[in-house]
Amino acid sequence: MRRKLAAGNWKMNGTTAALSEIDAMKAALTPGVDVLICPPATLIAQAAAMSGGIAIGGQDCHAKDSGAHTGDLSAAMLQDAGARYVITGHSERRSDHAESDADVAAKTLAAWNAGLMAVVCIGETLQERESGDTLDVIGRQLAGSIPDGATASTTVIAYEPVWAIGTGKVPTPDLIAEVHDFMRAELTGRFGAEVADGFSLLYGGSVKASNAEEIFAVSNVDGALVGGASLKAADFTPIISALAASAD
Ligand code: PGA
Repeated sequence: MRRKLAAGNWKMNGTTAALSEIDAMKAALTPGVDVLICPPATLIAQAAAMSGGIAIGGQDCHAKDSGAHTGDLSAAMLQDAGARYVITGHSERRSDHAESDADVAAKTLAAWNAGLMAVVCIGETLQERESGDTLDVIGRQLAGSIPDGATASTTVIAYEPVWAIGTGKVPTPDLIAEVHDFMRAELTGRFGAEVADGFSLLYGGSVKASNAEEIFAVSNVDGALVGGASLKAADFTPIISALAASAD
């Protein structure tokens, strides 16, 4: 059975005062759902020390272990600070820092080597969707961003349409299903059914308490990567509960 994952990406939000939100989220923990918060790197060590059953993750890592890369953090450093996961290939990294699929694959490999679970993000832009290229883009990003040897114990994949992130626009359940079913089929073609069936596939982009139940009912959606609605326990805990209540 696939793991269900409710993952929060705090992006560049949160100072120590926000740790109380993680504390408040503990009340929603339930055995059937893994919960992950990816705070800014400045909070990882403190968050990991008090997060209990909530896993803590980074939002990015460098592909190398160490070296002359001012301002960057390696996967081993995140792991040392208490992270168990790291997001790779978020669209904001791809656009703000010109990260290519090859860069994302290298970071994902670095995450694995440090013992971190990678949450690899892919997704089409509005222009790509409007030109009918969505599945081509998803197929290309999946192939290029996920290194050979990926398994469910090292890798989670998040489909995040760029046009849905932070906009309040969410694809219809049919559109989400089309992409998630396609991803499962592509993964099956590459890794075989047994390995491919194990990957948890997250949807991300304007997930909120009010749409979570509908999204979690979609085939091949095993959880969510949540930005804005993960900052406050009051917004995130109903999403965790909706995932717990969804059919396996
Ligand atoms: P959002 O962000 O939930 O605020 O749309 C999602 C994400 O970027 O991971």
